Amino acid sequence: MSDKRPIAVFDSGLGGLTVVKALHTHLPNENIIYFGDTARVPYGNKSQDLIQEFSAEITEFLIQKDAKLIIVACNTATALALDYLKRKLDTPIIGVINPGAEAAQSLTKNRKIGIIGTLATIRSGAYEKALSQLDSSIQSFSKSCPLFVPLIEEGWLEGDVPTQVANTYLKELIQKQIDTLILGCTHYPLLKPVLSETVGDTIQIVDSAETTAMYAGKRLISQNIVNDQNDMGVLENYVTDLPVRFKRVARQFLGREIDHVSSVHIH
Ligand code: DGL
Repeated sequence: MSDKRPIAVFDSGLGGLTVVKALHTHLPNENIIYFGDTARVPYGNKSQDLIQEFSAEITEFLIQKDAKLIIVACNTATALALDYLKRKLDTPIIGVINPGAEAAQSLTKNRKIGIIGTLATIRSGAYEKALSQLDSSIQSFSKSCPLFVPLIEEGWLEGDVPTQVANTYLKELIQKQIDTLILGCTHYPLLKPVLSETVGDTIQIVDSAETTAMYAGKRLISQNIVNDQNDMGVLENYVTDLPVRFKRVARQFLGREIDHVSSVHIH
């Protein structure tokens, strides 16, 4: 039986669109609801209590929209609220940290892995924990990069300013001779050209979007909730502030027109 209900993807802002892009590639016929909490971004410098409260409000909204699977496409919310949400909800829900850690572990040769993310994600130690559970000989080095998210939300994705910021943040990690760098924030793949240039050819960049999309595909199969219709899925977007900037950056990033964007109040 085909299940046309949407997969719901949420983030504090635009970052989770990196997961939407990967879903478009891997599961093109699934309908998707994207939720960006643009009124309250960034989450990365907020407390666990607040992040749990915001995440609970969003998931409630998504369940009302009949979501069949929820993807927490935000590392901060995954690190600080995923376990809490799993305890509260019956709807299947997945995060982005385990997929990212697994992708990095399968790529590293020297077992030195760098992690960049928001203050809250780095402070939580969630990646270190996930990596050491996969392989206790992995050495991880982390760095919070709080200026990246505001740059990305502004659509400032290239040029001198992001390049200088990236050089400053990544210097220490490069000195540690990491061979793999995890983009531990779903916003950061939008800065990938600048980040790749900064770290050079010897460091591989891992973003969890692709692996998360593949996880989502497996979860749909195991729950028996795949949409096996052949039509292209529809993308419906909800944001908590004015949709103008969201539309612009989303169009630039996804490379397609973004027709359905509604502004909603959820609290
Ligand atoms: N994109 C989010 C993450 O993956 C959050 C960024 C933020 O709101 O600070 O952590």
